[in-house]
Amino acid sequence: MSPLTPLPPVPSLAQLRTAGINRNCWYGVAQSSEVRQKPVAVVLWGEAIALYRDGQGQVHALEDRCPHRHVKLSEGAVVGEAIACAYHGWQIGPEGSCTQIPYLDAGQKLPTCRIKTYPVREQDGFIWLFGGSGDGADVPLMGLPEWDHLNYIASWTTIDCPGHFSYLIENLMDMHHGHLHDNYQAWAEAQLERIDTQPQRIDAHYEAQSYYKIDKIWSVSQLFIPALRRLHPEPLTVSYIYPHWASSLGNDFKIYCLFCPVSPTHTRAYLIHFTSLNAFWRLHKLPIPFRRWVKNSLFNSARGLLDGLVRQDVAMIAQEQAAFLADPQRKGQEVNRAIAPVQRLIWQQSQS
Ligand code: FES
Ligand SMILES: [Fe+2]
Repeated sequence: MSPLTPLPPVPSLAQLRTAGINRNCWYGVAQSSEVRQKPVAVVLWGEAIALYRDGQGQVHALEDRCPHRHVKLSEGAVVGEAIACAYHGWQIGPEGSCTQIPYLDAGQKLPTCRIKTYPVREQDGFIWLFGGSGDGADVPLMGLPEWDHLNYIASWTTIDCPGHFSYLIENLMDMHHGHLHDNYQAWAEAQLERIDTQPQRIDAHYEAQSYYKIDKIWSVSQLFIPALRRLHPEPLTVSYIYPHWASSLGNDFKIYCLFCPVSPTHTRAYLIHFTSLNAFWRLHKLPIPFRRWVKNSLFNSARGLLDGLVRQDVAMIAQEQAAFLADPQRKGQEVNRAIAPVQRLIWQQSQS
């Protein structure tokens, strides 16, 4: 943004805490392993969606509504390429049309009903759904390049948060809340150094103290043995890449948060943590099957840490949301310079 471009306004709290989403984005709606042959119900900003994996392993997304009597398709079963509704067994295919009715009389035609379908992609361990109109082909999908990379150990968990998504992204952009997580030794003493803003992205650069340094093979044990940890300065960058979040702490850790806002008072998200093995150049000379075995054996080893952090954050966000609902006009105080640009971006996107 040029220095002469006027900044869009910071929304009022009442606008911000009820702001909608920009549907023309790819949202992270499920982890791949959650979508098996049984349909899964997800909600993206008020739209109920049935996700399912067909007999060929392909994932599809349909409006979660049987065209017959409007019950939830997600309570049905997968039959070949279609979902068979739980009630009368009508089969609805990936195009959203009825492909079979088990009790149709000879000579009776299938009704020409059609329900909404959504473009979905399975990439980097997650199911991404495009919530807008069109196929989303020209809309960038953030992706998690570390998910399949042999040099990164992945862990993931879900966030189910009784609050508007603005509270969650502000929590993730305001690194001064390391205080809340002191007992988990996540990071400490963050100082905001610089903020970069682009039309759909905000990067907040902090300098922080990290407890972990993953530079020798045995240093991985710091992840399990707190006495081995030593505070040392590391750059901590957090980025709002609308509608998602990405961060890095030094060279050793990357964390992503994939947002799936459900309603103005409910946000689901996925938190994905990567520990880098980049420093272990000797490991990289070993055969790929062995490196894959190392990666797979350590998969989800940070799950307990993530769940602990999420519990603490969600408890705070629930209180923020409750306080807003109790008095939507009451203003708070803010000193973190990264928050106003985040609020502007939320508002701008909600209007597009
Ligand atoms: S309601 Fe779905 S088949 Fe009748
Ligand atoms: Fe946190």
